[in-house]
Amino acid sequence: MDDLRNKYIEAIAAAADEAALEELRVQAVGKKGEVSLKMRELGKMTPEERQVAGPALNALKNEITSALAAKKAALADAALDARLATEWLDVTLPARNRRVGSIHPISQVTEEVTAIFADMGFAVAEGPQIETDWYNFDALNIPGHHPARAEMDTFYTHRAEGDERPPHVLRTHTSPVQIRSMEKTGAPIRIICPGRVYRADYDQTHTPMFHQIEGLALGRDVSMANLKWVLEEFFTAFFGTEVKTRFRASHFPFTEPSAEVDIQCSWEGGTVKVGEGDDWLEVLGSGMVHPKVLEAGGIDPNEYQGFAFGIGIDRLAMLKYGIPDLRAFFDSDLRWLRHYGFASLDQPTLHGGLSR
Ligand code: PHE
Repeated sequence: MDDLRNKYIEAIAAAADEAALEELRVQAVGKKGEVSLKMRELGKMTPEERQVAGPALNALKNEITSALAAKKAALADAALDARLATEWLDVTLPARNRRVGSIHPISQVTEEVTAIFADMGFAVAEGPQIETDWYNFDALNIPGHHPARAEMDTFYTHRAEGDERPPHVLRTHTSPVQIRSMEKTGAPIRIICPGRVYRADYDQTHTPMFHQIEGLALGRDVSMANLKWVLEEFFTAFFGTEVKTRFRASHFPFTEPSAEVDIQCSWEGGTVKVGEGDDWLEVLGSGMVHPKVLEAGGIDPNEYQGFAFGIGIDRLAMLKYGIPDLRAFFDSDLRWLRHYGFASLDQPTLHGGLSR
């Protein structure tokens, strides 16, 4: 029995891994293990012999079993120590620099404009970029033969062969959202609608896709004077300085009377500065909503009236942040985006001055 003990206690101490331990367990105390076989021999012994050998064999079995368990735990500890020694992390090392994306000037300016109009009680409305010609044209008092349709360089979608319905268009302005909003909310209403618009045009100040913000305010006595105040209030907040405006009589089929609005600027030194000098720059179209447009939107023109305007967001961004070429807005050039982009935490607020 001493031989058995020495043999297994030594082998267990020397076992290199769990598999070796398991093998030893089977050999010693498994069903056909050496210790187990010895225990079977107890039956053939005399009672006196058995009284000595029985407890001794049991003690041996227990000793081997606990040696196995102790070695198993030691092996696991050693494995963990080995892992800890190789898989370590120096949390005091400086972090690797990662490029952070930036907010596009168009997104930034859209947020700024939205914040200013929200402060004046305008809610944000949206509409689809692919429009029916009813919403984009007819409802806005631009009938089929009207020259404005041709002037707008409209993109048309294809109809299936033999489908004679008028094709859908990529909206040429955000004005169709006026109609959609009137239908949805009725009057009184005060909304702005920022979004993409499309016209087939391409040069330094025109891209086939650009951005507008539509404004619409209807009430029982909303007037041109309210329009002027709202716009002047807007420009002053947006540019952070008193900005003179010039209302020029103009014509849009969907407003009567209509005005194009210029803002005061200077071109001295080759760069444009808003709010000084004696040049003017056109930034928006506006007017009193035409009675036919109110009717198309399901509103009684004898009860309600109001103003609408459409501002070019891209133009505003160029003016405020000194960006010379509109086309660069949509080139996705990372160097340009890093230069003109905004930090993502630079949320525009009125109290923060709306800019960096
Ligand atoms: N929809 C016009 C344009 O795109 C702008 C505008 C909007 C004019 C609302 C008057 C009223 O040019």
